[in-house]
Amino acid sequence: MPKPEKHVFVCVQNRPPSHPRPACGQKNCAEVAEEFYWHLQQRQLAGKVQVTTTGCLGPCSEGPNILVYPEGVMYAGVRKEDVAAIFDEHLEQDRPVERLLMTREFWG
Ligand code: FES
Repeated sequence: MPKPEKHVFVCVQNRPPSHPRPACGQKNCAEVAEEFYWHLQQRQLAGKVQVTTTGCLGPCSEGPNILVYPEGVMYAGVRKEDVAAIFDEHLEQDRPVERLLMTREFWG
């Protein structure tokens, strides 16, 4: 398998409603993950970009959260509608999407 240029981790952590911490799983992260896989296929970027669903990334209150390596860029509050911009600007042109960046309070 070729080493991908970008590795995108999509938090799909779930927790029961009674849990004291919120979870990306309660905020439509599944449809965000599906949108990433759809774009990956449509844009034929497999091999260059890898998308992996993952457990909690830390700042749960800000989710759905996405982490992109090798840059270590974290996106917060990502909606399905934001995924195209992450591909257009960051994954294909190396320009992180400023409006979606996690604040330094949580990632910095
Ligand atoms: S549950 Fe997604 S970051 Fe913690």
